[in-house]
Amino acid sequence: MAFNIADFPEAAEAPLWLTHNSAWVDHIPMACVLMRMLKPRVFVELGTFRGDSYMAFCQTAVRLSPHPRCFAVDNWVGDPHAGFYGPHILAELRAFHDPTYGHFSTLIQKDFTAAISDFADDSIDLLHIDGHHTYEAVKQDFLTWLPKLTSRAVVLFHDTQIRDRDFGVWQLWRELAAEYPSFEVPYGCGLGILAVGTEQPAAFLELLAELNAAPERTLAPFKAYAARIDMLRTCMALTNDLHHAQSMINEWRKVLGQPITQNTPDLAGAWQNPRRFSAGVLTDTRQLVADAARMLSTLVQKELSVTQNQIGVVQQTVDKLKMAGASKVG
Ligand SMILES: C[S@@+](CC[C@H](N)C(=O)[O-])C[C@H]1O[C@@H](n2cnc3c(N)ncnc32)[C@H](O)[C@@H]1O
Repeated sequence: MAFNIADFPEAAEAPLWLTHNSAWVDHIPMACVLMRMLKPRVFVELGTFRGDSYMAFCQTAVRLSPHPRCFAVDNWVGDPHAGFYGPHILAELRAFHDPTYGHFSTLIQKDFTAAISDFADDSIDLLHIDGHHTYEAVKQDFLTWLPKLTSRAVVLFHDTQIRDRDFGVWQLWRELAAEYPSFEVPYGCGLGILAVGTEQPAAFLELLAELNAAPERTLAPFKAYAARIDMLRTCMALTNDLHHAQSMINEWRKVLGQPITQNTPDLAGAWQNPRRFSAGVLTDTRQLVADAARMLSTLVQKELSVTQNQIGVVQQTVDKLKMAGASKVG
């Protein structure tokens, strides 16, 4: 049966977890489709960072029955490509993840090699590799985790398109794609989809065949959904900026004894109608800028009159001193 993205409702939904700058967001609809299509018994992600990719897989996994067992492995300190970061990244992710997905998913804070012994051989149906991106590192990740894969395993590689610095996923991808059935999503820094196991579901083989035969047409709905997610992310950034400006200006309003009238827009509107939402944020921002200009001039006037009063007092004191000095001399 031909692939129809309408059979995968999660692909069209707003991600519940989205951070500000992951290169992975373009693949969220594909993650939803693959999770539902492959129904892995065990899913493992190597390299989770803020969690944009992993949370997308979990958002579909939570709907499957039985839930796949999901594991995110990361040292959560960073690497030379992702940069190094503090413990707040894992703490923020955990605060959302544990109550939402903790009943079937585990965040494992370990080095990839140290986590291998947590998994039995022949146990992982879906593996996503997105750790350090040199050729040597990604090859080691693939080879060391290979014995853990089942006969129906699929492996995903992120950043197959990046060729600057010492990124080398593209090089490993070229070798592996010649060896296994595969498809490379060319946008979003590149996502390689590799059918490593020999026993793949018919629907997945059909999707691979369609992707390879007509990539533009087959990827079109994935791209459209991804563009909507990207717009949501832009709206989130706009709302955050507006919120900061509102907080600052509300402090001024308090100083001036003015009422606080403007609410922060509700992000749910951004998913329903991003254009209307952005237009609303723009109107709010313009109003804030006008308010800020008015309040600034009021504050400056106040400061000015205080300063003028102080100058008056100083002037009076000087005059008094002059008079006192003159009478002494006389
Ligand atoms: C590119 S980021 C992952 C991005 C993530 N998939 C997303 O959706 O945005 C790579 C992550 O892999 C982790 N990492 C790299 N090499 C690792 C290793 N050998 N063991 C554990 N974690 C590693 C880094 O700490 C970093 O958080």
